[in-house]
Amino acid sequence: MAQAPTREDKFSFGLWTVGWQGNDMFGPASRPPLDPVEAVHRLSDLGAWGITFHDDDLVPFGSADAARAQHLKRFQGALAETGLVVPMVTTNLFSHPVFKDGGLTSNDRDVRRYALRKVLRNLDLAAELGASTFVLWGGREGSETDAAKDVRAAMDRYREGIDFLAQYVLDQGYGLRLALEPKPNEPRGDILLPTIGHALAFISTLDNHEIVGVNPEVGHEQMAGLNIVHGIGQALWQGKLFHIDLNGQRGPRFDQDLVFGHGDVLSSFFLVDLLEHGGYDGPRHFDYKPLRTENMDGVWASAEANMAGYLLFAERARSFRADPEVRAALDTALVPELATPTLDEGETAADLLANRSAFEDFDPDEAAERGYGFIRLSQLALEHLTGAR
Ligand code: GCO
Ligand code: MN
Ligand code: MN
Repeated sequence: MAQAPTREDKFSFGLWTVGWQGNDMFGPASRPPLDPVEAVHRLSDLGAWGITFHDDDLVPFGSADAARAQHLKRFQGALAETGLVVPMVTTNLFSHPVFKDGGLTSNDRDVRRYALRKVLRNLDLAAELGASTFVLWGGREGSETDAAKDVRAAMDRYREGIDFLAQYVLDQGYGLRLALEPKPNEPRGDILLPTIGHALAFISTLDNHEIVGVNPEVGHEQMAGLNIVHGIGQALWQGKLFHIDLNGQRGPRFDQDLVFGHGDVLSSFFLVDLLEHGGYDGPRHFDYKPLRTENMDGVWASAEANMAGYLLFAERARSFRADPEVRAALDTALVPELATPTLDEGETAADLLANRSAFEDFDPDEAAERGYGFIRLSQLALEHLTGAR
């Protein structure tokens, strides 16, 4: 049995996750709409710490100002009653048909200007609610045919848009950072900034790169056949892991948005180990879809399952690290040695060239005879993960 989640675990959920009604390409909703106020209360009761939303999740697209104020008031009332926080806010630039060719990179300049206005209004709301991260997922930024999108111009417009929004945040003195969420495809045939690596490279070209990072989603990297643990490792290394979307995915196929841990189990284990021991202290945010087969009881069971799974992996990762046999296997595998710089302090190329032990007296054949013991180490991880140890 997993331990119960507490606020200290920093678990948060998108309003659109538990609120997803099960409508897909092949059929309509299988569940009733969920009142955001109820979502706040139920998530709070389950031990969550935060709730996040797209503008349109909370305030239906096109609502008049008075209706918008009323929706926000009810929501803020529920937050005050429960103590749930809003760590992140995001903007829907993908549902309304006006965004069918994208928001910030639509070929239509008027659409781009409208998209910027929609985000600006939502940045004000995010700041008002005390959020620290503002996610931008460009689901419609992309194309189905290479004839229709000038990718270099699109990247110019993307950079213009993100730099403009970041400058607004700085000018307003908002305590917000922007986090770009990569995804390779779906809903567009090909989406711009398809992976963590593309997003990190793009961010480095921004004037306001200091306040822009990434919000990687587990399943999105896996849709691209990539290793999420490596992607998160590099994002952390570059100081750019501002937020994370946890969920499950089984290999390259449509975006499954499964419960965290219900996809690639081994990868989930190593990811939690990295998050817990790698210096990440941001939200543990779940972006998943309760299966269309579930009724509302199943929805709340799925919310619980995400948190319980995460805590199980965290407990297993602690047991893995505390095991003396694992420590010995790590030493045999030379894992700690990778932290030692390759060169001595101040060592120059001339020094290295003069160092006979590095080359002339080094026997590559002898060095090649060593076994690293990676399989043994991997098996120990599996034994801890499965509870055999
Ligand atoms: C997806 C995406 C979205 C975004 C969300 C935030 O799975 O299609 O991850 O869920 O995370 O829209 O903007
Ligand atoms: Mn997804
Ligand atoms: Mn996501």
